[in-house]
Amino acid sequence: MADFQSIIDDIHQQIIAQKNYGEVAGYIPELSDIDPEKFGVSLITVNGVCYQAGDSQDLFSLQSIVKVLLLSMAYTRLGGRLWQRVGVEPSGTPFNSLGTLEYDQGIPRNPFSNAGAIVVCDVLLDLYENPRQALLDMVRRLADDDTIQYDPAVAASEKAEGYRNVALANFVRSLGNIHNDVDAVLALYFDCCSIAINTEQLCRLFLVFANNGQTLDEHYQLLNVSQTKRMNAIMLTCGFYDEAGDFAYQVGLPGKSGVGGGIVAVLPGHFSIAVWSPRLNEKGNSFRGLQFLEQFTTKTQLSIF
Ligand code: DON
Repeated sequence: MADFQSIIDDIHQQIIAQKNYGEVAGYIPELSDIDPEKFGVSLITVNGVCYQAGDSQDLFSLQSIVKVLLLSMAYTRLGGRLWQRVGVEPSGTPFNSLGTLEYDQGIPRNPFSNAGAIVVCDVLLDLYENPRQALLDMVRRLADDDTIQYDPAVAASEKAEGYRNVALANFVRSLGNIHNDVDAVLALYFDCCSIAINTEQLCRLFLVFANNGQTLDEHYQLLNVSQTKRMNAIMLTCGFYDEAGDFAYQVGLPGKSGVGGGIVAVLPGHFSIAVWSPRLNEKGNSFRGLQFLEQFTTKTQLSIF
């Protein structure tokens, strides 16, 4: 087994010594307060061994990474029927695109675009009596950490400025693929994106996707083996929007990014790895996060390919 700690330390040091590029996500005002030079890494193996470097205990905003968890909640209840409401094709468009929605009659190409995740939130409002609590319970259970919380200031900040998502939700509703009140759907979506997390918690949270859908300690089965395979496939093909192909090419792992600067990825059967650095490239993905993961899978030769 590779010496993960020294490899992580080496890459972390090397990247810190280089110039950092990109901008913090300013379109959610509350996120622009963060120190742009923060940089944390965690890796946890399916044997439960944890490796860390840098700011791995600092909290940041989960943002789009939550879309994987929202999808899991809907998919476990509806199975394949969910795909009548949202597709599983890479979009090739930015995360907040109105793109092909009119042509596709309001069925978003995949559940990780904003439009797709907003439709999933609409589905969750019908499936769960209290979807916010159900999500938080699931997150805490998977991460084995009861301290994880929503950040109401981040949610309010996005709600105040979230014109694009308001447009997306209304457009999809006009095409018949949102059934609940648009404000209620968006409020749920903004709340879910606001979860505060650190890279260690994020790694624990995503270990199920590396471990056949099951948690390590409790052997709680979130998804069956086949569902886990499919979730990982969607992460690989759609997890990085119009940079998904590049991420597969450079890194070679299923993963998901968020505009809080977090990226989480898994090597099924082996580990989950989370990186956080708030400066984003022009596609909305963490500049240093991508750099770190590319070097990590290149050096260790551990990827799905
Ligand atoms: O809806 C939004 O724009 C944000 N709450 C989430 C977007 C996001 O994280 C895109 N990821 N890279």
